Amino acid sequence: MASLKSTGPIVAVLGTGIIGGHMAARLAEAGLVTRLWNRTAAKAEAVRGGLRTESRSKCSVHGCPEEAVEGADVVLTALSDGPATESVLLGAAGTAALPIRRGAAVVCVSSIAPGEATRVRDGLAALGVALLDAPVSGGEQGARDGALAIMAGCDTEAVPGPVSEVLAHLGRTTVVGAVGAGSLAKLLNQAIVAAQATAVAEAFRVARASGMDVDAVPAALRGGFADSAVLQQHWPRMARGDYRPGGPAKHLLKDLANLERHASEAACGMPVVAAARRRVAELVGATASVPSGSAGEMGASLLDGGGEEAGSAAGGGDRVRGGDLDISALALL
Ligand SMILES: NC(=O)c1ccc[n+]([C@@H]2O[C@H](COP(=O)([O-])OP(=O)(O)OC[C@H]3O[C@@H](n4cnc5c(N)ncnc54)[C@H](OP(=O)(O)O)[C@@H]3O)[C@@H](O)[C@H]2O)c1
Repeated sequence: MASLKSTGPIVAVLGTGIIGGHMAARLAEAGLVTRLWNRTAAKAEAVRGGLRTESRSKCSVHGCPEEAVEGADVVLTALSDGPATESVLLGAAGTAALPIRRGAAVVCVSSIAPGEATRVRDGLAALGVALLDAPVSGGEQGARDGALAIMAGCDTEAVPGPVSEVLAHLGRTTVVGAVGAGSLAKLLNQAIVAAQATAVAEAFRVARASGMDVDAVPAALRGGFADSAVLQQHWPRMARGDYRPGGPAKHLLKDLANLERHASEAACGMPVVAAARRRVAELVGATASVPSGSAGEMGASLLDGGGEEAGSAAGGGDRVRGGDLDISALALL
């Protein structure tokens, strides 16, 4: 990480959920001036509160996105999906809604559909503001460590300098084409992640039902053809029953729905991914019972259907929506 003395682009971060929160913290700890906004202000305040004192003085939390983007060179959006990104950046009229300065760049790190990315680009063009769609892979751990795979769509020959400087703190960037291509690359990433995660969850269930030492499996498979970040990160979570959201299942389902639409327009079938999507949809549609007060690892058991109001205490446990659990909860199906 760069030294605190570094000056650099002023960055506004809109959306400090799981991914945006870790990114904002990394950028602030690298010494950049950061201006944070989150719909639920407490999350942005928590990010700022977790910073070292010297970083905190260069980080501010704002009550609305209009205020947060003031004077920013780079506006990084990490909202949940395309509709949220469009509504914050373009507003209801679909035209640029925020006072972002001419010449600044917006970097959307969320996973959205390629068509949503090009719509946002076209909306921002009126302001003289460029968009890069730069979705990421590597999960919460990658975001925390600045080790994300960043797949960027960019309309200019080179990524603008201030954007490169910001992304360098977050991971490794590869430009895969014009705006929209980054989002498509992420959908392809999600096809592979979904197929792997469902297969890992099924293999885990067989291992456990067979009475073998499940903890031995990731090490035994390391370096072989079945090895992957999904295996190494999610199998141990399945073994611990840790379903706290690092990558919430509802976001994977959103990506698979976007992918399915795109693949069908390209006249390509994806039968394996379609089966994975059904499993993820099953998890998202379920309700999970979580022991009350389980602040640490979130052991959970799935209940039928999703009828009960999520979050209400029932039968000695809290109920949460399956979609809010980590994708490692596929092991519960
Ligand atoms: N988590 C991962 O491992 C991971 C990895 C790669 C990519 N991604 C992608 O990154 C994006 C963010 O994921 P995340 O895991 O950080 O999700 P998250 O923790 O659920 O955060 C979502 C963020 O979007 C905000 N938001 C949602 N709807 C909004 C609206 N209508 N208006 C304004 N703000 C809105 C939320 O605000 P509130 O706090 O007020 O709800 C929150 O800041 C998603 O597109 C996801 O697919 C996630």
